[in-house]
Amino acid sequence: TTVRTAIIAGNWKMNLGPQQASRFVAEILPELGKIVQQHSHIMSILCPPAISLAAVHQVMQSVPTPGVELGAQNMYFEDKGAFTGEIAPGMVKELCSAVILGHSERRGYFHETDELVNKKVHAALHYDLLPIVCIGENTDQYESGETQAVIKAQVEQSLAGLNEEQAGKIVIAYEPIWAIGTGKAASATEAGHVIHLIRHIYAEIYGDTAAQAIRILYGGSVTSANIGEFIAHPDIDGGLIGGASIKSDFVEIVRKSA
Ligand code: G3P
Repeated sequence: TTVRTAIIAGNWKMNLGPQQASRFVAEILPELGKIVQQHSHIMSILCPPAISLAAVHQVMQSVPTPGVELGAQNMYFEDKGAFTGEIAPGMVKELCSAVILGHSERRGYFHETDELVNKKVHAALHYDLLPIVCIGENTDQYESGETQAVIKAQVEQSLAGLNEEQAGKIVIAYEPIWAIGTGKAASATEAGHVIHLIRHIYAEIYGDTAAQAIRILYGGSVTSANIGEFIAHPDIDGGLIGGASIKSDFVEIVRKSA
């Protein structure tokens, strides 16, 4: 069996501008760094808003912590040009090693389609950025039993056209929309079941080796109180944390995953 390095990623969403972000990172980094250095099977990725990336990057340079990495929450797929308000993959790469793509809030509020997410995934891989690709069903789909079909379509379309090497390099975050920011996390059994299915769908497209190599995270109301159950599940390779990632609880989540 493959041993996959677990990932605890923090999606700060639209919280903490440059000043607050640097203060927060300076606060958590020493302890966070200590934990990941003592446990090589786990890494942590901090994803502040784009405008705070440089400030956080600067703090991270002054307190070198291998195992703690920086990620963006989104980017465009074009190299450069007239795309007002967007950030390019090469710009992200100057500061970050990872990027969240296709978060349900991007898909919902900003109308991102699987097709667009797929272009971004290819751009990320081209720039050697680790793509954390979010998928997940909404409440209606969950209640009407469409979860499997929704997940299958999202995997097939968001992750289309990868070559063999790329197929082993991505991270998927399974975030059921009904569990995001609601305090109602999926049970580890339920999340593990869907994640198992995601790996199966992925294996059908890209083969077993790639499917065993990729990390699949759970996201949705994860806190230090429930992370233990998720991390203990053999199919779940970590968490994508929202609300709890901008509090000191994030350090506790990483500690409990180690
Ligand atoms: O990307 C993380 C996320 O959507 C989960 O948010 O606040 O439920 O942990 P939250």
